[in-house]
Amino acid sequence: MRNPSALITGITGQDGILLAQLLLDKGYEVVGFGRQASISSKRADLQLLYKRIRLYYGDLGNSVDIVDAIQDVSPDEIYNLAAQSAPGLSWAQSIETGKVTGVGAHRIFEAVRQFNPECRVYHASTSEMFGNASKLPQNEGTPLRPLNPYAVAKVYAHHMAEIYRKSHDVFISCGILFNHESVYRGMHFLTQKITYGAACAKLGISDSEALNEEGEPIVHRGKLSLGNLDASRDWGHAKDYVRAMWLMLQHSVADDFVIGTGISRSVRDFCAVAYAHVGEDWRDRVVSDPRFVRPIETMTTVADTSKARRELGWAPSIPFESVVGEMVDAHILALQG
Ligand code: NAP
Ligand code: GDD
Repeated sequence: MRNPSALITGITGQDGILLAQLLLDKGYEVVGFGRQASISSKRADLQLLYKRIRLYYGDLGNSVDIVDAIQDVSPDEIYNLAAQSAPGLSWAQSIETGKVTGVGAHRIFEAVRQFNPECRVYHASTSEMFGNASKLPQNEGTPLRPLNPYAVAKVYAHHMAEIYRKSHDVFISCGILFNHESVYRGMHFLTQKITYGAACAKLGISDSEALNEEGEPIVHRGKLSLGNLDASRDWGHAKDYVRAMWLMLQHSVADDFVIGTGISRSVRDFCAVAYAHVGEDWRDRVVSDPRFVRPIETMTTVADTSKARRELGWAPSIPFESVVGEMVDAHILALQG
C-alpha cells in the first residue's frame, strides 16, 4: 500500500512547519506549497525540513498555480493554511487580505471540486470570526461578527467551505482555531514580541536588533512597546493544534470544530508569565503605545471545545507556562548566538 500524500499551503508559516513534521512522522509524503522567495530564504530550521518534503512554488492569489499543484500532486489531503494571517496588519492590506485569505481559499475549493473531488480538505478558519461575541465561551454555533478585514475574509472562506461541502459534496473541514503559539510564530505577533522582550531583559539588551511593526527596535531604551494590554486570548501550543487538523481529516464526516484550551488570559497575564520566567517584573519593562492599539479590538476569546473532545478525542496537552517558557528560552539561545 502506498503512503498517503498531503499538500500543505502556507508551508513556511508556523502551522505549516509543525504540521509537515507531524505528517512526516506519520509516514505521509508531504508537498509544501509556497511563494518561491519565502521558501528560498535562508532559515536553517526550514532548510532541514525542505530536505524531507517536495516543494511546489505558487501563490494563493493565482488560480493557475493552485490548479497545477492539485493536478500534478493529486494529494489525498490538502491543508489550506496559507493566508495574510495578521489581523492587526489587515486594515493596511485589506484588498490583499481579501484576495489571499478569502478568495485564495475559494480557489482551492473550486480546484478540488473540478480536478480532485475525492481529496479531503482542511481549511484554517479562526476564532477572530466571532468578533466580540455576546456569549462566552465560543463554540461552533456562536454567531460570526467579524471586526477586521482579516476576519471578514476568513468568514467568506468559512461560508464558502460550507457551500462546497453541502452543494458539491466536497470533504472540507474547518478548524475554528483559537490563538496558538510556538517558536515558529511570526515576529509581528504579540507573543513573540513579549517573549523576545523578556529574553532581552534577561540578557541586558536595551536596544534590540529585531524590529517591531513600526520598524523600530522591539526593545528600545530597555522598554517593550505593546498596544492594548486589556485584550484576552485563549492561547495554546501550536503542536497540539496541528494534531487537531489531522484528526479532522481522519473523521468520518466533514464538519466544523472549535479548537482551544478553554482558558482566556490577558496580555498583562502573558507578560507577567514571560518576564517572571527570567526573574523580572513586567511592569518595569512594558509600556502601552497607542500606535499598536487596533481601531476595533476583539477583546476576549475563549473556546468551548466539547465537540472536538467528544467527536475527535482531541484535548490540549501542553500547559500555557511551557509554551511561554519555550519561546523565551529559544530567544535567549538565539540572542546568545
Ligand atoms: P503564518 O505563520 O502567518 O503563515 C501563513 C502562511 O501563508 C505563510 O507560509 C505565508 O507565506 C503564506 N502565504 C501568505 N500569503 C500567501 C500567498 N499569497 N500565496 C501563498 N502563500 C501565502 O500563519 P500560521 O500561524 O501558521 O496560521 C496558519 C493558518 O491558520 C492561517 O490561515 C491563519 O490565518 C490561521 N489561524 C492561525 C491561528 C494562530 O493562532 N496561529 C489561529 C487561527 C487561525 P510567506 O512566507 O510567503 O509569507
Ligand atoms: N500583534 C500585536 N502587537 N498584538 C498586540 C500588541 C502588539 O504590540 N499589543 C497588544 N496586542 C493584542 C492585540 O490587539 C490582540 O488583542 C492580541 O494582543 C493578540 O494579537 P496577535 O498576537 O497579533 O494575534 P491575533 O489574536 O490578532 O491573531 C492571531 O490569532 C488569530 C486567532 O484568534 C493570528 O494568528 C490570526 O491568524 C488568528 O486567526
